[in-house]
Amino acid sequence: MKIGVFDSGYGGLTILKEIRKRLPQYDYLYLGDNARAPYGTRSFEIVYEFTLQAVKALFERGCRLVVLACNTASAKALRTIQQNDLPSIDPSKRVLGVIRPTVEILSEMSKTKHVGILATPGTVKSHSYSIELGKLSPEIITTEHACPMWVPLVENNEIDSPGADYFVEKEIKNILAKDPQIDTLVLGCTHYPLLLPKIKEYAPENVNIVCQGQIVAESLADYLQRHHEIENRLSTTATATYLTTEHTEKFDSLASLFMGKPVMSHTISF
Ligand code: DGL
Repeated sequence: MKIGVFDSGYGGLTILKEIRKRLPQYDYLYLGDNARAPYGTRSFEIVYEFTLQAVKALFERGCRLVVLACNTASAKALRTIQQNDLPSIDPSKRVLGVIRPTVEILSEMSKTKHVGILATPGTVKSHSYSIELGKLSPEIITTEHACPMWVPLVENNEIDSPGADYFVEKEIKNILAKDPQIDTLVLGCTHYPLLLPKIKEYAPENVNIVCQGQIVAESLADYLQRHHEIENRLSTTATATYLTTEHTEKFDSLASLFMGKPVMSHTISF
């Protein structure tokens, strides 16, 4: 059985890349719902409905465990799927998210204890980061800030364009104006690491930039070590298969660019 990795589009590739570096032996099935991205501006109900469809599609194709490599889906759908849907779909399967593992490492990263979260409007509206940080590290002052144009820049491969400079500079200035004591900025959307060169250009040098890929990979490795009943059913032929809800041509060219090696996908519909 495989490990499923799901995102609304290309962002989850930033997570898959790091997971494969850390756990190269397993077989992975990636699904990007590119035809319906972005999710970040959609309602709670729609994100939940789309995410559940994707999780079921990955289970039907042989995944035992699915990582929601998407903060918006983790914020809006994970809890309901874990608590309400999994028991009736198949209680032996698992769905994991990306927010909790990120929050767990933040307290040791920030010296000023002022942390900024850059994310989609949906993730910001859910306040998932400030709620989780409030529980785990109440000493941290959290500022959540939405960057509605960043995902469209990535989905349309405008990451090197002057438009990217404009919107990256604008949002970094805006969040630091809200709280100038921020010393740690979390890229709380898996698409954002694809804008990392620009983000580093416009963020002050003393500010840490947190990307989730390695954090999620480490947390998955730890999870599999603690859950042998899941781990020992996973196949280990070191492959990655890619599914998209869009045409394969566009997915393959952008995904190959982002992964740094050729990607050949298949189109699915729900
Ligand atoms: N990459 C996703 C996230 O981490 C979703 C982006 C979107 O579709 O708006 O939030």
